Amino acid sequence: MEITKSHFGNLSDGREVSIYTMKADGLAVSVLDYGCTTQSLVVNDKSGNPTDVALGFNEAYGYETQDKYIGVTAGRYANRIAKGHFCLNGNEYKLACNDNGKNHLHGGSIGFDKRMWTGSIDGDTLKFSLVSEDGEEGYPGRVEVTATYSILGTTLSIVYEAKSDADTVIGLTNHTYYNLNGQGNGNILGHLLKLNSSSVVLTDSESIPTGELFATRNSCFDFTTEKPVGRDIADSMLEASMGYDHCFLIDNEQFCKLTGDKSGITLTMKTNKPAVQLYCGNFLGDTRGKSNYTKYSGLCLETEFLPDSPNQKGFSNCVLKRGETYNYRTDYSFSIV
Ligand code: GAL
Repeated sequence: MEITKSHFGNLSDGREVSIYTMKADGLAVSVLDYGCTTQSLVVNDKSGNPTDVALGFNEAYGYETQDKYIGVTAGRYANRIAKGHFCLNGNEYKLACNDNGKNHLHGGSIGFDKRMWTGSIDGDTLKFSLVSEDGEEGYPGRVEVTATYSILGTTLSIVYEAKSDADTVIGLTNHTYYNLNGQGNGNILGHLLKLNSSSVVLTDSESIPTGELFATRNSCFDFTTEKPVGRDIADSMLEASMGYDHCFLIDNEQFCKLTGDKSGITLTMKTNKPAVQLYCGNFLGDTRGKSNYTKYSGLCLETEFLPDSPNQKGFSNCVLKRGETYNYRTDYSFSIV
């Protein structure tokens, strides 16, 4: 295993962005300190050709100006918080409504995705750390966060840890868009997906949970038997979100298998988080990245707490108490079918 650090580019204010690359047999991962962002994920396809399966940009400017969260670490609270407010211990907290002026999304105006993290190489692991001050983006508590990347065989593990000096809410996720067929090689609608999930969070027209869970069985949300991502994507239940943009509750740790129909590359995922947001790049529009991206060019599998948990009774417990440690892990294993 080899870990290197090099210069990636500069932000418009001159700050330097570094890129760290971890290279093992059959898997190379590059991560930027800016946004703790996965810039590339290279694995071999069925013919042995190195294939970059992560959407991204070739320059810092692309990351600085994007609003699609491509590759980033989303936080302090990934996904939406309704109307940008929540109550904790009897106090009300107000957050930026950066999602169409209506709701809070992925941590606010300057979320963890637009922050410079501190990268360090620690033996065979790559560690990124960040301090989010008390009151930053409206959230309570000074939070110290780390994201640790390691590789074993062809499995990449990302462990998030956080501690706060006051009770707060937190939920971190990796927002990589995958296209297992590689860059510029069509969309993800033919990818085969298996998700061990028997219920999904129902949402309104603003993608805010209604509070109800819906049984996936025999619906467009049923991925318990492997099927092409695009098979049921025109279902009326997906109309408002223009495709899948839903949070699936995970039945068991080894919850997901995604296969590139052209490359044979398979990604299996394991996590101790309760849920995963399947988002199919519905709003990618016209994004000029490493290749030209448009609707459905890549899909995200964001392991997380349920959306709007700070306001929804009965949803996952996203409260991090002062002095306790938030510690969640997701493993991403690559192989060939
Ligand atoms: C996803 C979210 C989508 C959209 C996207 C960023 O995580 O579920 O609704 O906001 O991020 O464009």
